[in-house]
Amino acid sequence: MDLLTSIREEAKEKNGKIVLPESNDERVLEAAFKLKEKNISTPILVSDDNNINDKIRTMNINLDDVPIYSPDDFNGFDDFIETYYQKRQHKDITKEEAETRMRDRNFFGTMLVEKGLADGCLSGADTPTGEVLRPALHILGTAEGVQTVSSDMLMIINPQQENEKVISFADCAVMPDPDEKQVAEIAMATAQTHQTLVQEKPKIAMLSFSTKGSAKHEKATKMQKATEIVREESDFCVDGELQADAAIDKTVAQKKAPESPLKGEANVLIFPELQAGNIGYKLVQRIGGVEAVGPIIQGLSKPMNDLSRGCSIDDIINVAAILCNLK
Ligand code: ACO
Repeated sequence: MDLLTSIREEAKEKNGKIVLPESNDERVLEAAFKLKEKNISTPILVSDDNNINDKIRTMNINLDDVPIYSPDDFNGFDDFIETYYQKRQHKDITKEEAETRMRDRNFFGTMLVEKGLADGCLSGADTPTGEVLRPALHILGTAEGVQTVSSDMLMIINPQQENEKVISFADCAVMPDPDEKQVAEIAMATAQTHQTLVQEKPKIAMLSFSTKGSAKHEKATKMQKATEIVREESDFCVDGELQADAAIDKTVAQKKAPESPLKGEANVLIFPELQAGNIGYKLVQRIGGVEAVGPIIQGLSKPMNDLSRGCSIDDIINVAAILCNLK
């Protein structure tokens, strides 16, 4: 079975409650309808628009059983404000600032997850990534033992065909300028996500413009050091620093890195910083025709995912299904 079909099937078993804060966006409403109709998850919507039900009716979809919460008349709203206020005390915020934040649909949706009223939150169809991530960082925070929140982009080559292959790219969405410890943490988190979702042994390549010291530069040294940290702190199969061709092409690997345990078969590619990762995945997606699913946010205490603003209804359904698998 192809990856996305199996992720949707597994989500059905988990019966996750997923909050979709962007009910102003018709793609989100349509996705909520399909998530429910196909029994993939139980959607929860957030809206402060009095006309939301009229809008749903004109779309000819049935969302009768889907809760639509509004900060204006939500029973636990004062508790939400107090919780956010307490969590941000080290930033000296006022109660008024806490209330303003909690009236924001993304902060409100994230707090539903924090309070256990939803299993995960999915936003970004109509919101830039930074505004999706900030509530998650402020309210959910990092999981125990984790310092660095990052993301995994699942790049699906030949989707739904017999020769389908999935490569994880990271970090393409969160951490602008990670140091070597943070790159190592991103690598280990991405290998774990890859193992959980793709269900194959991760083979991590730490990417650079240099292969095994072919260039001398502090940026290549950073990836060498990050590789060492991953080796010391995990049992994952990892190698670096490697150029992308030596990571994924057997013939090039044989020539440039004959001793590499990856043998040109890496399936987890770790970029040295966000500009490279973000540009890299978009080029592969747009020029290479590869399906990009994510970014799947990793390292938070509870599940929250981002969407691309160019996402389709199917993209929203797929990432909601992934959230259910990670709950
Ligand atoms: N991991 C763990 N903690 C973090 C991280 C991280 N990656 N980033 C920030 N934090 C912490 C901060 O230290 C801060 O702590 P504190 O306020 O409790 O002391 C808190 O989380 C959030 O702080 P803010 O000041 O509100 O946010 P910040 O300015 O640090 O920005 C953000 C964080 C939004 C993630 C920023 O790094 C960012 O904009 N990243 C890039 C997002 C982006 O535009 N991606 C590209 C597009 S995505 C795509 O194309 C698919």
